Order: sequence, then C-alpha cells, then structure tokens
Amino acid sequence: MTERKPMTLPRLAQMHTSGEKIAMLTCYDAAFAGLLDEAGVDILLIGDSLGNVLQGRGSTAPVNLDDMLYHTTCVRRGVKHAWVIADLPFDSYHVSKEEAWKSAAALVKAGAHMVKLEGGGWTTETVRFISERGIPVCAHLGFTPQTVTSLGGFKVQGRDEESAARIKRESQALVDAGAAMLLYEMVPAALAAEITAASPVPVIGIGAGVGTSGQVLVLHDMLDITRGKKPRFVKNFMAGRDSILDGVKAYVDEVKAGTFPVNEVHGF
Ligand code: KIV
Repeated sequence: MTERKPMTLPRLAQMHTSGEKIAMLTCYDAAFAGLLDEAGVDILLIGDSLGNVLQGRGSTAPVNLDDMLYHTTCVRRGVKHAWVIADLPFDSYHVSKEEAWKSAAALVKAGAHMVKLEGGGWTTETVRFISERGIPVCAHLGFTPQTVTSLGGFKVQGRDEESAARIKRESQALVDAGAAMLLYEMVPAALAAEITAASPVPVIGIGAGVGTSGQVLVLHDMLDITRGKKPRFVKNFMAGRDSILDGVKAYVDEVKAGTFPVNEVHGF
C-alpha cells in the first residue's frame, strides 16, 4: 500500500481541477482527528460551530479566539494527513486587517494550515492582507452563521437574481484578493455549481448541492449526536452502522462518489 502523504494546498487545487471530490468534516479534538484521518477525510475544520455542538450555545457569536486556539491545538495533535482549517471567530477579524492578521497568526501557531472567515465585500481587503503575508484563507459565503441575526434567520442565500449576482461578484473579488478556497453554505445548487465550474480555487459546499469540489458537514450532525431538528442538508451516516469509523468512511465514500448530497433531497 502506498504511504498516504499529508494533504497540501496544491493537492487540493489539483483535486478541484481534476474533479476528484474533497471530503471535509468539522472536528474539535484529537481523538476524532485521528479517527477522521484514518477514515480518509481530506480536510478537518475546527468550526466555530463548536459553540453550538460542544458548548450548547444558540449561536456561534459567543465563541472567542481562546476557544478556537484550544480546539485547534487539540485537533492538530491528533492529525497526520488531513488539511486543517480553523475558523476566525466572530469579533476576531472585524475591526482591522491588522487585528485579523494577529488572530489568524495565533490560529496558525496553534496548528491550523488555513483560516476561514465569513462574508464578502468588506472582508476582501482583509483576505488580501492575510493571504499576502502567507496565511491561506478560505472565504465562507452564502448563509454566514456569525451574522444570522442580520440575515433574518436560517435562510437560503442567493435565491433571487440580485443576491446571486452579488455572491458571484463577491466571490470573484475574494479570489482576486488571494482567497485559496471558497465555502458556500445554503445556496441554490445551480448557483454553487456555476461558481465552482468557473472557479480557479476549490469550492466546498454545505447545503449547496452536489456540484461543488467538495462537501462539509458538522460532525455531530452527520453522526446523529445533535438533538432536535436538523437542517435539510444533513444526512445521518450512522443509520444502519454500528461504528463511528464506518459512518465516517461511508460519508467519505459517498462524497467521493458524488452520491452525497442528492440535490433533490438535501439541496435548495
Ligand atoms: O463552523 C462550522 O462548522 C462551519 C461549517 C458550517 C462550514 O463553518
């Protein structure tokens, strides 16, 4: 068997170009990092969704940089192969580009390969500032959980012509500014597929249909640990399986085969 090499940004870019699907999951600790790595997950995201799934909060806004640093350190200890992305939490990149750099650099020192931030437009110059100084950035567009209040709730973004055009315009500006990856949450499948086909960088989707370069889900959702009603785009990969490793392997297999998500079932 050939030795699996650590994931790199050029390899992710090559997967995007060749159409080889990218499997990504959120991860918050060393134990799961080892297991997800073994299952073949390409990217681990230390998502600020930890505010919801670990801390029991109603939103991601209260998560602070120290929380993110702690969980990034834990994940990095457990991972051998996967690319590691850490979320810049709410209020850690908003006031100035310099503050954003400091927050991003702290996450890199804790073990992240890349940082993710939410929003387009005003974030463009921040992405340029961080990328030019050597930290790869993933830009999260569409539904942005940190600003759920100003979006008026958990709503699909980019449904009408005007907002779809804005998302496309902002994506282009972010890529021009140096964003090395794009992530779309809850946008129509057709819009995400169109952007992906034209994108020079990998595009990850969550509730954005099957036409993106890869998929991400919140770990606790796909393992059916999360209680209550889950978003339409979630699939329970533990159904009919009795080991977490098998559930995660099934997710990787389905993402790679393009059989998850199914637009008509999980999409908008
Ligand atoms: O924090 C998170 O888990 C995320 C995903 C929803 C992509 O940003």
